[in-house]
Formats: sequence, C-alpha cells, structure tokens
Amino acid sequence: MLRGGKVGLRARHAEDIPVLHGELHDDVANASRAGGRAWRPITPGSPTLPFAEDDPEPGRVPFSVVELAGGTLIGVATLWGTDTHHRSAHLGVGLLPSARGKGYGTDVVAALCHYGFAVRGLHRLQIDTLADNTAMLRSAERNGFAREAVLRSSSWVLGEFLDEVLLGLLAEDWQPAARG
Ligand SMILES: CC(C)(COP(=O)(O)OP(=O)(O)OC[C@H]1O[C@@H](n2cnc3c(N)ncnc32)[C@H](O)[C@@H]1OP(=O)(O)O)[C@@H](O)C(=O)NCCC(=O)NCCS
Repeated sequence: MLRGGKVGLRARHAEDIPVLHGELHDDVANASRAGGRAWRPITPGSPTLPFAEDDPEPGRVPFSVVELAGGTLIGVATLWGTDTHHRSAHLGVGLLPSARGKGYGTDVVAALCHYGFAVRGLHRLQIDTLADNTAMLRSAERNGFAREAVLRSSSWVLGEFLDEVLLGLLAEDWQPAARG
C-alpha cells in the first residue's frame, strides 16, 4: 500500500466496487463531470469499467483510497494514460461525497506523485480538470503542479461546454515533502 499523510492507496477489492459504483458512478452529475464522457448506466457486477478490480487498459493503474486510520474506503485514485516512451502519465482522483473537503484530495495527489515519479520513474505527470473544479485545482497546485493550458469549451457537461485546465509537474520540480 502507498501511504500519504492521512490516506492509503491500495488495490481495488471486490467489496469496494458496489460502494464506488453507487456513490460515484450512479451520481450522474459527479460522473459526468469526472468521467470525460457521456454517462450511461452500468449493471452492478459488470466487469465493465470504471471500477472493475482488474483494469484491462494498458497504462492504467487503479487504486482504492482508504483512510490510514481505520482503513475506511474513501474513494479512487488512478494513474492513467501512461506513455513509456515519453515517460509521462495522467492522474485522476475521485472521493466519496462524505470524504471531500477534508484535505484528503491533496494527500492523494501527493501519494500518486510518489507512485508516478519514485515507483514508476516517470518524468512528467499531468492533471486534467474542469476549470470550475477549485478543489482539484488546489489539490494539484498544493503539490507543485503548474497550470499550463486552458482548453476553451472543450468539455460537454450536462448541457453546456466548459473549459478544461491542464496542469503539469516535472520530476525535477517535484518536492515530496512540500505542503504549501
Ligand atoms: C476534487 C477532489 C479530489 C479534491 O479533494 P478534496 O479532499 O475535496 O480537497 P481538499 O480538502 O484536499 O482541498 C484542497 C483545496 O481545495 C479547497 N476546496 C475543497 N473543496 C472545495 C470546494 N467545494 N470549493 C472550493 N474550494 C474547495 C480547499 O479549501 C483546499 O484549498 P487550500 O489548498 O487553499 O487550503 C474531491 O473534492 C473530489 O473527489 N471531488 C469529486 C470528483 C472530482 O471532481 N474529481 C476530479 C476530477 S478531475
């Protein structure tokens, strides 16, 4: 298990899946904003993404996020889009509603950076988020990510086009202990 200050990132367990499915995927507004694609219903128990135990997509590493104190499931974290030639990947985080706004997101990004840079030896990590997602932007920036681009009206989300922000962090700029 990867350990942050308050969170652990561990493998997806079978018992996590119904919780994640119900609290993240079946929340249409949340899934539409976080998923980057049109929401559609998925039958419980289906091996279909997004929360299967074994993700068949190469370059995608799914974690379940737990509280270090007690081990309660609080969300998901993902390293995705790994490119072994350019040594880059993207990070994704999705916390259960009850776990948001408590500093966990910032801690999860820190743990994912440790995984990407120290464990996988990557050179560049990227976070892609909607421009109005202040909590995700701050979680990234608190870990040293810089805003690199705004993709204007690039995301169709529940009836409107929204801007997307790309943030990047390079290995040489990563400060593992930094908490701004
Ligand atoms: C985005 C997300 C991962 C952030 O994690 P979090 O634990 O809620 O965020 P934190 O508590 O670590 O807060 C990080 C910063 O955002 C701020 N923040 C938190 N919630 C906020 C909100 N609703 N509105 C504005 N700012 C907020 C905090 O004050 C903190 O700011 P600071 O660094 O200046 O002190 C989490 O809210 C989440 O999973 N949301 C739903 C799914 C999602 O949007 N995923 C990202 C898709 S790209």
